[in-house]
Amino acid sequence: MSKKIAILPGDGIGPEIMAQAVRVLDALGEAFEMERAEVGGAGFAAHGHPLPESTLKLARQADAVLFGAVGDYQYDTLERALRPEQAILGLRKELGLFANLRPAILYPELAGASTLKPEVVSGLDILIIRELTGDIYFGKPRGVRECPDGPFRGQREGFDTMRYAEGEIRRIAHVAFQAAARRDKRVTSVDKANVLETFQFWRDIVTDVHREYPDIALEHMYVDNAAMQLVRAPKKFDVIVTGNMFGDILSDAAAMLTGSIGMLPSASLDASNKGLYEPSHGSAPDIAGKGIANPLATILSAAMMLRYSLDKAEQADRIEAAVKRVLQQGLRTPDIHEDGTQRVSTEQMGDAVVRALA
Ligand code: IPM
Ligand code: MN
Repeated sequence: MSKKIAILPGDGIGPEIMAQAVRVLDALGEAFEMERAEVGGAGFAAHGHPLPESTLKLARQADAVLFGAVGDYQYDTLERALRPEQAILGLRKELGLFANLRPAILYPELAGASTLKPEVVSGLDILIIRELTGDIYFGKPRGVRECPDGPFRGQREGFDTMRYAEGEIRRIAHVAFQAAARRDKRVTSVDKANVLETFQFWRDIVTDVHREYPDIALEHMYVDNAAMQLVRAPKKFDVIVTGNMFGDILSDAAAMLTGSIGMLPSASLDASNKGLYEPSHGSAPDIAGKGIANPLATILSAAMMLRYSLDKAEQADRIEAAVKRVLQQGLRTPDIHEDGTQRVSTEQMGDAVVRALA
């Protein structure tokens, strides 16, 4: 039976970059069944909810989900439950996508695009593994209430709950050690054990899981230090594993080391390697419709999807090689353009990847 891919373009530049990824998938000559659905602001506009029931149903049925990006100015004033971001949070939670893999790789052709000195970032190849369905993102209770104590007693206060269950920490630690086994065999677990109970517990559990992986080196690092090391000497890292909130912040920093967040794919996996694949960047509504968005992060996300969820590693390799080739040819969307390279549109970049596949 042919594999089914749910195509969720979303908002802003989402539809433009997704169109190019779909062309690349079509060009592989595989008989994938691709079905589209609205999500984010587009979901709200069409069905009154950022994650419509029909979209969630499709995502559940599919073997994998390819996701563009969500969010646009006109939805910023909606109540929280209806905002576009709820679509991606809902999909992660409903599909149990607890393991978020965010590689940060510097392509040699793009070394000049980084804001850091070339010697600091050349050859960079790190993998951030972010826990994606727990932590303060989903912890309850949360809300606004009357402050019960202290000098501000009686005023309103906002509050959230940071929490991690043992099993949640164990399963993401296993993902990290197993990923490191296929790389340079080093894991840095990032926490705030000096201040937070949740993350002292995290450190204890990760240390315990590590006993099953004697070949992997484990180091613990506080998140503030990790942020500093990421910009000071990023190549010292191999695999970084951390919680939902710290991972959100550190992965944006790591992405920017490579010069363009427009290049970086990501995978969000459940326990059976079913997954959602999306570019690491957002919906960039300011440049939507102009034909200047970089489709490569979405095209590379499709490659990750082939490798992790669809059992087509060879086709994934073909796409990644094609992307390398177009970079070598000097083709650049404006976000990665430098003197001496050729500026191309979103669609021309898609054309070039399709041609390089042949
Ligand atoms: C990300 C995004 C999301 C997050 C938002 C859009 C909810 O920033 O995927 O990193 O915070 O996880
Ligand atoms: Mn983020």
